[in-house]
Amino acid sequence: MDLSLDQQLRALVRDVPDFPKPGILFRDLSPLMRDPRAWRLVVEGLAAKVESHRPELIVGIEARGFLVGNALAFAMDRGFVPVRKPGKLPGPVEAIDYSLEYGSDRLEIQEDALAGAPRVLIIDDLLATGGTAAACASLVEKAGGVVCGYGFVAELTELSGRNRLQKNLPIEALISY
Ligand code: PRP
Ligand code: ADE
Repeated sequence: MDLSLDQQLRALVRDVPDFPKPGILFRDLSPLMRDPRAWRLVVEGLAAKVESHRPELIVGIEARGFLVGNALAFAMDRGFVPVRKPGKLPGPVEAIDYSLEYGSDRLEIQEDALAGAPRVLIIDDLLATGGTAAACASLVEKAGGVVCGYGFVAELTELSGRNRLQKNLPIEALISY
């Protein structure tokens, strides 16, 4: 019998206890990206889930969100906009502070990246507490974009990250833990 997509992908996620800090079970997607067939299933699977949300641009969050978001943008023939950690983007930027499952940080986007108020899909590799994605949504709005949904490869459901995102927007994830 064929394994479900969820089972096939889950088998290629490596669980690393106590990384990067004691008490964190790190879900490492590197083996998934290393397998071209599995990675194609990830990108095409996400594309199929988000197409109906009609994104005009894909916003990916540094760093792992770039790996997923840029591949997805290419597959969907949409433009890609990076949201980066502080001090990396040239020119005027909008910025926002946020907190993480294991730390805190600041995100930036180029001030003119979302000119024309495009529909924006926010992409990251993983949804944990939701702090990063929620901050990214606020940043997108600050920069003039309209968030039309979120996409993740994996979601840690016990951390209830969904509850921190706008209730009326679709949140897609391929693997749920
Ligand atoms: C990880 C992950 C998400 C975020 C999820 O990023 O890639 O962006 O944490 O956590 P949250 O839902 O609790 O906010 P990290 O800050 O480790 O950065 P990286 O992508 O540069 O590894
Ligand atoms: N980002 C935040 N929490 C994480 C986790 N447990 N595994 C992988 N990436 C993460």
